[in-house]
Amino acid sequence: MSTHNECQDPSDESATTPPQPSRRRFLQSAAAAATVGAAPHLRAQTQTPPAPPAQVQQAVPPRPVTLTVNGRAYTLQLEPRVTLLDALREYAGLMGTKKGCDRGQCGACTVLADGRRINSCLTLAVMHEGENITTVEGLATNGALSPIQRAFIEHDAFQCGYCTPGQLCSATALLNEFRTGTASTVTADVRSRPAQLSDDEIRERMSGNICRCGAYANIVAAVRAVHEGGGQNGSAAINETNGGGNSRNA
Ligand code: FES
Ligand code: FES
Repeated sequence: MSTHNECQDPSDESATTPPQPSRRRFLQSAAAAATVGAAPHLRAQTQTPPAPPAQVQQAVPPRPVTLTVNGRAYTLQLEPRVTLLDALREYAGLMGTKKGCDRGQCGACTVLADGRRINSCLTLAVMHEGENITTVEGLATNGALSPIQRAFIEHDAFQCGYCTPGQLCSATALLNEFRTGTASTVTADVRSRPAQLSDDEIRERMSGNICRCGAYANIVAAVRAVHEGGGQNGSAAINETNGGGNSRNA
């Protein structure tokens, strides 16, 4: 009866020497040991120190703020942190101005402050005491739509209508800005008055107002129609304010 040892080839070293760890197993063991050693150090590096206790801010009480909106004075009890947009919608009850992004990106909240268009979500109501604020509700005169309002209807320049109040206020100011010679970033020579209100000029000047429905082509057509029809601005109400300027913020 033969045994295992009897069958071994004396020239076979692997059979007589103890098994050696493979190169791969050695590298795996070394890497594991290094990781275990470094872990406490890494944890110490990534741990952030505890935040200091938050300071309790005393709430600033509301105070009366008088805003002149569409020619009417509204005295509202407002905290200083209330935006003009929220003051118009939630305190004065003028819901025509829309809240889209609430962070200055969509233009839905555009109103006019002394004829300058601003994003009302980016400015505080208390900063506008003494100014003439015009919202979409103030564009019509004695029940008659302004030229730009009529043009929007004639050119089908909206679908859902959510952006339309801001578009109308913006277009109203745009026509006034062009009339007073304000250049835009596509005006060829900013030292002289733009020669004509091209479609590129309209698109650029309306670029702060986003329309999710994509009614841009008809919006441009409506603005162009009012301009070519001799409408110097979109509303008689704006004639009473300080037109001009291209401010998007306050
Ligand atoms: S709500 Fe979008 S810019 Fe003000
Ligand atoms: S008409 Fe719908 S977002 Fe402009």
